[in-house]
Amino acid sequence: MTSASLLVEDSRDYLSPRQVLVGDGSAARLGDALRTWGVADGAVAVIADRAVVNFGVADPVLNSVAAAGLVAHVFADIEGEPTVDTAERATEFARGLGAAAIVGVGGGSAMDVAKIVAMALGSGTEVRECLGIDMPGRTVLPLALVPTTTGTGAEVTRVAMLSEDGRKVISSHRALVPTLAVLDAELVRGLPAGVTASTGMDALAHAVEAFLSTNRSALSVEASLRAVALLRDALPRAVADGSDVPARRATLYGAHLAGLALNAGVVLGHSLAYTIANRAPLPHGVTCGLALPYCLAYNAVADIDGVEDLALALTGGRSARLLDAADWVAELAAQVGLPTSLGAVGIQATQLTDMATECIERYPRANNPVPFHHAPLTRLLQALHTGDLAAADPKHLYLEESNA
Ligand SMILES: NC(=O)c1ccc[n+]([C@@H]2O[C@H](COP(=O)([O-])OP(=O)(O)OC[C@H]3O[C@@H](n4cnc5c(N)ncnc54)[C@H](O)[C@@H]3O)[C@@H](O)[C@H]2O)c1
Ligand SMILES: [Fe+2]
Repeated sequence: MTSASLLVEDSRDYLSPRQVLVGDGSAARLGDALRTWGVADGAVAVIADRAVVNFGVADPVLNSVAAAGLVAHVFADIEGEPTVDTAERATEFARGLGAAAIVGVGGGSAMDVAKIVAMALGSGTEVRECLGIDMPGRTVLPLALVPTTTGTGAEVTRVAMLSEDGRKVISSHRALVPTLAVLDAELVRGLPAGVTASTGMDALAHAVEAFLSTNRSALSVEASLRAVALLRDALPRAVADGSDVPARRATLYGAHLAGLALNAGVVLGHSLAYTIANRAPLPHGVTCGLALPYCLAYNAVADIDGVEDLALALTGGRSARLLDAADWVAELAAQVGLPTSLGAVGIQATQLTDMATECIERYPRANNPVPFHHAPLTRLLQALHTGDLAAADPKHLYLEESNA
């Protein structure tokens, strides 16, 4: 059994929110829950996605805060891939209110800004002092996160991503795991098919890559496998018919579990995804979907305990081979309308060598089961360029190694 053997692996951390409100309509309980966590009175800064506010999706959250006798003030001036500048403006807004708590409502973009605001106010610092990894002395205001996309898992992770000068900058700190997360499928019902597809592939990538990570634990593996099972079944249905409520619930819970699996971190797939995003302006989940089958192929030579369970979960019990699972992921991406080759998103063959270099130098992953080497990574990217997954078979990737 996978998890039984993993229970005796190295000591690991596993972080999760202090309380999760789960189920249709659960956003209505957010205000009272904030009170039970000590937010007695005063202003609550609601950092929300603009479209989510305009479509009325944030209303249950706002009504719930008001019903609990707290005063909600909305900041909705947030772009996709939010910048440091946006987080600074949101922080100024919340500080001006003397906010007692922060609520983030939206996809990863709004939730990440909310996380940074909660840390800047909680620590009495500027936004820039909240960037980095495990910064000493940082704490947060009471923080509630309400996802309205089904992908990032930002409502459970220790990470917030901002961008500056076209580059991603990270804040990673255990204090960013919120007090409260709300999983209310009624808030994701109106998510457009394209966003459902791309954010769903991001979630699937989190679950799969976390399983492959050498930092995994018994708990993260369980979260990975359950997330894969939910997303495998529900993602195509939620994309085909947004009013399929059970499918919406399953993608929301699958993305949440995949966020918990991220306690183990992501691996090569996200490194490849960032090198793609640096050359083609695509949503994060689209780049993750392009990379994921090739991440599986690259790592198919590794000796990963219980990896058959992952392949079986991905293929719906049809195959225990990771390469078959890679095929299935590529088919899923095509089925939900996402590109499956670098050529299709305008990347030129002449860019591939630089991408392999960037992967190694800018996005290294000590937790990837197979070390990053330039030659096999270049061949992997060549296969991805034409969308020829058969060319990413390890027998084609690791030529020098097998000849040596
Ligand atoms: N913190 C983390 O752990 C983590 C993990 C992965 C990614 N991220 C970051 O998250 C960001 C991406 O987040 P995302 O993929 O959720 O996208 P997003 O937050 O940018 O939202 C995508 C689009 O969906 C719209 N939208 C959101 N909810 C909707 C709803 N219910 N109905 C209709 N439209 C809706 C938004 O207006 C936007 O146009 C990136 O900046 C990425 O780096 C963070
Ligand atoms: Fe991601």
